[in-house]
Amino acid sequence: MFTETTQYLIKQGIVEPQIALILGSGLGELADEIENKIVIPYEDIPNFPVSTVAGHAGQLVYGELEGKKVIALQGRFHYYEGYDLQTVTYPVRVFKELGCKTVIVTNAAGGVNENFTPGDLMIITDQLNITGENPLIGANIDDHGPRFVDMSEAYSKRGQALLKEVAQEIGITLQEGVYTWFTGPTYETPAEIRYARTIGGDAVGMSTVPEVIVAKHCGLEVIGISCITNYAAGMQASLNHEEVMEYSQKAKPNFKKLLRGTIARLD
Ligand code: HPA
Repeated sequence: MFTETTQYLIKQGIVEPQIALILGSGLGELADEIENKIVIPYEDIPNFPVSTVAGHAGQLVYGELEGKKVIALQGRFHYYEGYDLQTVTYPVRVFKELGCKTVIVTNAAGGVNENFTPGDLMIITDQLNITGENPLIGANIDDHGPRFVDMSEAYSKRGQALLKEVAQEIGITLQEGVYTWFTGPTYETPAEIRYARTIGGDAVGMSTVPEVIVAKHCGLEVIGISCITNYAAGMQASLNHEEVMEYSQKAKPNFKKLLRGTIARLD
């Protein structure tokens, strides 16, 4: 499966990407800044799923950014769309097969931490998986990694330090915290948000955690950024996707600068 996908992509000219980018809701525009681009719609890629959410373009973009060879998912796959988690995380295994060393995951998230304001960017320092789901359940893919995966440093310390360095240099304030995965597609209830806060969550969202688990299985370095697009349920009157998109739009200029600065510093 992976081999067919990888060989197709190599044939299209996608060679030796160093850094993979998974761009979340409203954050896909960074891929437009990639130079000497090769753009491939998901439906053209053998064995690739197709994304269905508004705000997700559904294409793979390869090229150069800050002098680095990058490959970006402009639009990711979510569990709530009905894909199983092996499908949701399929692109991560393809990144590994193509030779990527680092994956930068991004998402829109609700702010659980009372110090967060919509529009903030948050360094993801760790994650909480309370869904009972795990993309590694099933036969282990021995060629990619071990049965039991160490999650002690899910988000690389080096990556977190780099993000802080870049933020300081470009003059933006970053939050940091723990990302909690709920499957969606419902937003959480106020009670669920109080629960997330009690167990140590700072942000909530419907993605990222499965991809990070598989990235760690594959031995990839992970760097994560959440764009806080709203106060989580119970902290404001009501929630909607339009607001999520509006605030991811607002955070976009800083988001792009932060990512570009970080990519420039990665080896
Ligand atoms: N909950 C879950 N996912 C989200 C949210 C939220 O409040 N905001 C953006 N994505």
